[in-house]
Amino acid sequence: MIDFPKILDVRGNLSFIQNNDQLPFEVQRVYWIYDVPGGEQRGAHAYRSLQEVIIALSGSFDVVLNDGNETRKYTLNRSYYGLYIPRMMWRHLENFSTNSLAFIAADQEYNAQEYIRDYKEFQLQALEH
Ligand code: TYD
Repeated sequence: MIDFPKILDVRGNLSFIQNNDQLPFEVQRVYWIYDVPGGEQRGAHAYRSLQEVIIALSGSFDVVLNDGNETRKYTLNRSYYGLYIPRMMWRHLENFSTNSLAFIAADQEYNAQEYIRDYKEFQLQALEH
């Protein structure tokens, strides 16, 4: 988990990312997921080399990570925390609250070739590493 700077203020709090200083990589792309209907899941896949950080800018959701061996669930519900996900992690997002907003910063542009969408293929590749 990455703890972003927090500027507490009675008028409302503020956090930031500047010049990639708060992240373990250089950001090439950001995207966000919103308006997720109750019960839906997103992102059941792994990336071959891409790294990312996921932030719950609003609301809450769970990020479930699997390294080919162990599964861990992280609940994100604070806009000042980010979950770093290294390459070759099977991950999905679930349990979205109403009006939740998932913000994702990645170290690469979108590239369909980066995705492993078959869990068995992922597991085989993960075991090789
Ligand atoms: P995808 O990453 O497959 O979402 P999920 O894993 O949650 O199902 O993306 C869904 C679609 O959006 C897919 O057709 C590719 C497109 N897309 C982009 O064009 N650019 C992006 O940065 C991302 C993340 C997705």
